[in-house]
Amino acid sequence: MKWTEDAYERAAYRAPIGRELHRRDTRVIERPGWYQIVTPSAVGHLNEVYISKLAPEDADRAIDEVVAEYSSRPNGPAVKWCVGHWTEPKDFSERLRERGFTRTAVRAMACSTDIRLEVPSGVTVDEVTLETLDAYVVFEARGWSMPDDQHAIQRETYGAALTASPRTAHFFAARVDGALVGSCAIFLREDFGYLVGGLVVPHARGRGIYRALVDARLAFLLARGISLAVTHARDATSAPMLEHLGFRTVYPYECWYLNP
Ligand SMILES: CC(C)(COP(=O)(O)OP(=O)(O)OC[C@H]1O[C@@H](n2cnc3c(N)ncnc32)[C@H](O)[C@@H]1OP(=O)(O)O)[C@@H](O)C(=O)NCCC(=O)NCCS
Repeated sequence: MKWTEDAYERAAYRAPIGRELHRRDTRVIERPGWYQIVTPSAVGHLNEVYISKLAPEDADRAIDEVVAEYSSRPNGPAVKWCVGHWTEPKDFSERLRERGFTRTAVRAMACSTDIRLEVPSGVTVDEVTLETLDAYVVFEARGWSMPDDQHAIQRETYGAALTASPRTAHFFAARVDGALVGSCAIFLREDFGYLVGGLVVPHARGRGIYRALVDARLAFLLARGISLAVTHARDATSAPMLEHLGFRTVYPYECWYLNP
């Protein structure tokens, strides 16, 4: 399939909307011009406003209501708010900044799945199964600095994703000499794959392990006849790496965080 500019944009915008890793207590609040997820049990993710298209006179009240909702958490309010070309009013970033949110620059990126990247010798990538899931969940949760009390619920959520039908989530582990050194996932959308969560253990960084994780996922998609990979990457971490590996920026946007 030939991907047009419009199709890239639509895929990039649609990519984060999926329920693969939602928990039992995740609530989706969705209406025209609004998409929000609320997960009381989660720390540091699954609590965000992705789409907010509001009249200027409604924006401040909406922000206050969202902050109040997430403020009931024992650790204080923690929420991510995405601001992109779709967000209205256009001064949304300033309004979030005034309320103490801090900005992270992000890029929606895309790549054809038929490029091949060189994988360093000694690095293997395997797809996570129910048998290898426990170690994977602990590795990933620690890598993303999740408190240890989150491991059990992560294990339950990932286990459910592995056995879901239809199945859209696939997790991958990079290993050197059998030891887990990297993790990542793909969420399958209708006609493209959404690459998420690339993580390499600090002592193994800079040796091409992330490159191996990207390559494995592109190959996985290509083998299923899926020609496009989409990801959302931070400017400060993987976005320049992905550009170097062959991804293109579809559009930049911002994530604003209110953290305890
Ligand atoms: C981001 C992360 C996964 C990278 O892992 P890594 O194994 O060190 O990355 P690699 O060694 O495979 O490097 C990937 C490529 O990017 C290149 N690269 C590195 N820094 C770069 C930069 N600033 N600009 C352009 N290219 C860069 C590398 O040279 C390499 O290309 P090469 O193999 O052709 O030389 C790792 O640093 C990490 O786990 N960070 C914490 C989690 C995180 O932030 N993940 C990203 C989520 S948005």
